[in-house]
Amino acid sequence: MKQAIEQVYRELEQLKCKTAKEVEEARIRFLGKKGSVTALMEQFRSVAPELKREFGQKLNELKNAATAKIEELKDGVGAAEMQQASGEDLTMPGDAMQLGSRHPVSIVRQEIVDIFRKFGYDVAEGPEIEDDYHVFEALNFPPNHPAREMQDTFFVSTGHVNPLLLRTHTSSVQVRTMEKEKLPIRVVCPGRVFRNEAISARAHCIFHQVEGLYIDKNVTFADLKQAILLFAREMFGADTQIRMRPSYFPFTEPSAEVDVSCNICKGKGCNICKGTGWLEIMGCGMVDPNVLRASGIDPDVYSGFAFGMGVERIAMLKWQVNDLRHYFENDMRFLHEFATATEV
Ligand code: PHE
Repeated sequence: MKQAIEQVYRELEQLKCKTAKEVEEARIRFLGKKGSVTALMEQFRSVAPELKREFGQKLNELKNAATAKIEELKDGVGAAEMQQASGEDLTMPGDAMQLGSRHPVSIVRQEIVDIFRKFGYDVAEGPEIEDDYHVFEALNFPPNHPAREMQDTFFVSTGHVNPLLLRTHTSSVQVRTMEKEKLPIRVVCPGRVFRNEAISARAHCIFHQVEGLYIDKNVTFADLKQAILLFAREMFGADTQIRMRPSYFPFTEPSAEVDVSCNICKGKGCNICKGTGWLEIMGCGMVDPNVLRASGIDPDVYSGFAFGMGVERIAMLKWQVNDLRHYFENDMRFLHEFATATEV
């Protein structure tokens, strides 16, 4: 019996198979009902009792070895057959997976929000489909203001007093914040906004804003100016200057347009700043008493400031991309340029 076992071991060692069929045949030869290993197991019954222990162990080992060998051969022919079938070398290294990166608009929006977070502002968000009340009426827009016309705003439903529309600015989120939050309020409202504009290098019907609102007792225009100056220096560099030009918004009084000194020519005048040395970045002002009143805040006790900027505009200035449309076309060659700026 010892010899017979050794013989089977030798056969197993020399066993080679090229196809799955050959492996199956070998399995039957060794482990099938009439296989050589099975036959030895049967002979075991007539082994002398004092040898049973020794041979029992040996036979078990043989059976395990045969089973392992068959499995190994199965795996081997499996890979080889698949390779033949597909004609490909499956041992070649795979293609590296291309990782995405953050969109430049996301990067800049996050940067703006992070700066204001450092100043102690919270982040507030609200619906993109809004009603007339939160986009216009509560913000002191007169009934015939052009922004309320079909040519300027996308309406979702018309014909009633408070029609649904796509918000034209995130000031609507500021209204919602004033309605529900306790004073003092300090928030920034990032989000997507919609205006019925012809698409060009400088305008798009969809873009992103970050607007801000601060309401407390004794908030003054000096506080507004300081907040904007600190923001501009964080965003565009420590030597950045700002200037404010008088402007008009229905929801702020007084209102201003903010310019920063051109960080490309350092104020000398170049084609980005059109020779003026200044770049416009946002609108701002002191919250109109009518707006505070509409949201139930007493303008005799509280005052506040608000500001709003376009994220694409800031991104254009930061990276000197002169065509707004690049930000919406998702051309991989353009997006890839920002892959290294993605640690945020
Ligand atoms: N809501 C204005 C806009 O969309 C921006 C703005 C916000 C201006 C707050 C002044 C104060 O253009």
